[in-house]
Amino acid sequence: MGTPLSISRDLEIDLESLIGQCVAVLGIRGSGKSNTAGVIFEELLSHNYPMSIVDIEGEYFGLKEKYEVLVVGTGDGVEIEIDAGCAAEIAEVSMEKNVPVVLDLSGFLSDERNEILMEYLTSLWNLAGTLRRPYIIGIEEAHEFIPQGVKTELKEMISRIALRGRKRGLGAIVVSQRSAKVEKDVLSQAGMLFLHRVVHEVDMRVYSELLPWRKSEVKEIITSLETGNCIFVNGETVRPIYVRERATFHAGFTPSLETVATPELKQVSASIIEAIERAREGRGRKSRAQELEEQLARLQEKLGEREAKIAHLEETARTLGYIKVEVPQAPLPVLKHVEVPPPTPAIAPATQLPEQISAECGWGVIKVASEPAPASSSTLPPAVRRHVDRLVARVERCSLLERRVLGFLVAHSPGSYTASQIGAWTDCAREMIEDELPHELLEAGLIARERRTDGLRFQSRLRTFVTSEFAVYLPDIGEAGLHEVTQQLSDRLARTP
Ligand SMILES: Nc1ncnc2c1ncn2[C@@H]1O[C@H](COP(=O)(O)OP(=O)(O)OP(=O)(O)O)[C@@H](O)[C@H]1O
Ligand SMILES: [Mg+2]
Repeated sequence: MGTPLSISRDLEIDLESLIGQCVAVLGIRGSGKSNTAGVIFEELLSHNYPMSIVDIEGEYFGLKEKYEVLVVGTGDGVEIEIDAGCAAEIAEVSMEKNVPVVLDLSGFLSDERNEILMEYLTSLWNLAGTLRRPYIIGIEEAHEFIPQGVKTELKEMISRIALRGRKRGLGAIVVSQRSAKVEKDVLSQAGMLFLHRVVHEVDMRVYSELLPWRKSEVKEIITSLETGNCIFVNGETVRPIYVRERATFHAGFTPSLETVATPELKQVSASIIEAIERAREGRGRKSRAQELEEQLARLQEKLGEREAKIAHLEETARTLGYIKVEVPQAPLPVLKHVEVPPPTPAIAPATQLPEQISAECGWGVIKVASEPAPASSSTLPPAVRRHVDRLVARVERCSLLERRVLGFLVAHSPGSYTASQIGAWTDCAREMIEDELPHELLEAGLIARERRTDGLRFQSRLRTFVTSEFAVYLPDIGEAGLHEVTQQLSDRLARTP
């Protein structure tokens, strides 16, 4: 035989049946839910059952008329002002020292309210895992915290308490006027239900799932319930009951013309208040200066991390050759008064061009190019890039005259030019170009020479040269790769003075 509770004359129920239980109290506005929940709390309090009530309307302080309940929150009527910084400590004191708490959240904006509740419930959940004592949490307007179809951290926590709290001794009493808006899992798993009147079809559908009756019966019975009457469901027991009226002041009563005086309220013993104040000072509410100091420390830490990241990225960029090095450009040669004719169509090489050249054989010892191609911006394989570097290095070892002629022709490809024209642009003597030049480049196949009526004409053969010189890489780099090689060589050779 357990400890009987006096909730209704129609009902025999004992205290033990509430340990670790999930209780749902549902019904439309004014149907008597808060009264029913209040009666359950009164019964539990009279047996010193530890609890917290999450009160978002500020209607449970009246329990103090008979019981030592601590009201915490913000605004008028609360005994201890709290915020998210000390919610966890209050929860610990409540569970450890068995102090019944009304967590009055009516004075907070919803973000802060949710933050406080999350801290509070997380603390209770964790501590319950160690203490494993009976404890119950009442939640008014539960649809606000465990809405159907929405995922939040807070909902996760409340659902966890309601569905899996039993092993820790944790029970929950969820109260809501919006049955259809409360997470279905919680309702379907609730072991005990107090179903007050509902009228809307959606709510009726929820009731039909919770009651073992036909839909038409559900509708008929439920709509005829009067204030204070409800259907009690607990396992096999399903019966209509009338819940007694609360013995303590119900701040959520429906006002009438009679004046209702607020009763004298019991105070929680000074030693408990002191214990909570100590917890608050130790780990709770922070001063503004403390908050700013902590914020500053966090920002400084972030700044340090960012500076380290920037340094690291700069180092990487340097390694990859991303950092642009400004090299003073040689001034362009002064243009002499020579008319440059428009480019003529490509010409065939005048002389028999030599076989494919190789950097390793015909081009002698290789030295490192002074300005290698930007490796990271190239999609070419390293071997190809090295080959390009070797060719550039080889050209750099040619005479100044050769380099200038090649640079000019590459830059003005595919045009063909006479020695006079090239001389005018490169500031070199025409005769030198005609007589001395450019044997090595011609032999390598980098340029071609053709005799025409207006004299010798020279033209860049870079593209043909690349096709032949890099033929071995074609399977790997394809035509696009050859094109890129030509482009890179063209850029670099055109810059050669
Ligand atoms: N069992 C009861 N016996 C007598 N009066 C009751 C009973 N239950 C509720 N009442 C009265 O009915 C009114 C509404 O009750 P209550 O505040 O509990 O409804 P509620 O369902 O919680 O409404 P709301 O959704 O607005 O919070 C109150 O004035 C209350 O005192
Ligand atoms: Mg209510």
